[in-house]
Amino acid sequence: MIAPQTIDDLPTPAILVDEERLERNILGMQRACDAAGVELRPHIKTHKLVPVAARQLAAGARGLTCAKLGEAEAMLASGAREVFVAHSLVDPRQARRVARLADSLDDFRVAATGAEQTLALEKLAEKAGRKLPVMMAVDTGLGREGVRDAAGAERLASLIARCAHLELRGFYTHEGWFYGAPFSADDARLEAMLESLCAIRDTIDPGLPLWPGCSVTAHAIAARSAGRVRAVRPGAYVFGDLALSLVTGVMCPDAIALHVLATVVDKPAPGLALIDAGSKTFSSDRTPSGLFALPADGRDIAVSRVNEEHGYASGAGADALRVGERVAFVPAHVCTVVNLADEVMVVRRHEIAARWRVDARGRSQ
Ligand SMILES: Cc1ncc(COP(=O)(O)O)c(C=O)c1O
Repeated sequence: MIAPQTIDDLPTPAILVDEERLERNILGMQRACDAAGVELRPHIKTHKLVPVAARQLAAGARGLTCAKLGEAEAMLASGAREVFVAHSLVDPRQARRVARLADSLDDFRVAATGAEQTLALEKLAEKAGRKLPVMMAVDTGLGREGVRDAAGAERLASLIARCAHLELRGFYTHEGWFYGAPFSADDARLEAMLESLCAIRDTIDPGLPLWPGCSVTAHAIAARSAGRVRAVRPGAYVFGDLALSLVTGVMCPDAIALHVLATVVDKPAPGLALIDAGSKTFSSDRTPSGLFALPADGRDIAVSRVNEEHGYASGAGADALRVGERVAFVPAHVCTVVNLADEVMVVRRHEIAARWRVDARGRSQ
C-alpha cells in the first residue's frame, strides 16, 4: 500500500493533527506558565501520544499528569521524569506496576482522594514496598473526588500522617465545573476557588504546593497566581475542541489543532446529510446544546445526532453537500475522540508529515 502523501489520499474518518497549531498551543501554554512562574504538568489523557508529551517536556513542562497507570507506563517513553497519577488508586493488584513506575521516575506521585481510598492506597503502597508522595484531592465544585472543606482536609491529612507508606506533598483540584458556559478570566468564582484552596492548604501546611488543573482556567490561574499556585495541569488545550472554543470561549477556532475528516455518504432527505463518522469516532460526548461536532470551515451544518457509524449533518448548508464530499469537523470533546482512534495523521498544511499511533489508546487500567 502506498502511504498517503496528502489529506486527499486519506481514507475517512481520519483524525488530523495540525502540527503548526499543536506546536503553537504547546508553546502558548508553556510561555504563559513560564511568565507567571508556574510549573506546567500537562494531563496526557487528551493526546495519549508520546511525541506530544515529548514536545510538551521539551518546551519546558516540569512533568506529566496521567489518569491511569497504563497511561503513565506508556508515557515513560517520552522521557518524563515526574508523573502524577491523578486518580483514586485502590487495588493491591497494581503494586508491582506502582513499584516499577516509582523506580523508573524521579518523582512518581499518586492521589489521596478520600479516607477509605487512602487506607486502600496505603495497603497498595505497602505491598509495593515504596513510600509514595501523595497529593490530596480537593473538590472545588465538580462534586467528584476530594475533600470538600478544611475540616475534611484536616481529617484526611491526619490519616495520611498515620500511613507509614504515604507522605502528603500537596493539594490538587480539577475545576472541570468551569466547562459548559462562557468563561472570563475575571470570573469571581476563580478567585474564590483560589482563596478557598489556599485556606484549606493553610490549615494543614502553608508550605505545601497547590496544583489546580483544567484547560478552561489554566491561563487565568497562571496570570493571577501571584505565587499561590505551584503548577497547573491542563490537558485539552493541546488540541482544543468545541468545549474550549464554542462553549467556554477560551480558545479561538483557528487555534484548534485536531479535526475529524469525514465523508458525506448519503443524503436521505432534504436538509440531512449522513457522514461516515458517528459515535465510534466522535464518542457520545456533546456540547450542552447537544452538538457532537461542527465543521471547521464554519459552513452552516452541525452534527447533532449520531449512531455508531453515522453522523447526521443537518442545517441550512446540508443540501449543498455532495455525496463523496469530505468535511473537516471540530469535535465537541477531543479527549474521547483520540482515545477511539488507532492513529492520528500529522498534517503540515495539506501534506501528511507523520502518522502517530495513539500510544496510550484504551489504557484505562
Ligand atoms: C484530574 C484532572 N486533572 C486535569 C484534567 C485536565 O483538564 P482539561 O482537559 O480541562 O484540561 C482533568 C480532566 O478531566 C482531570 O480529570
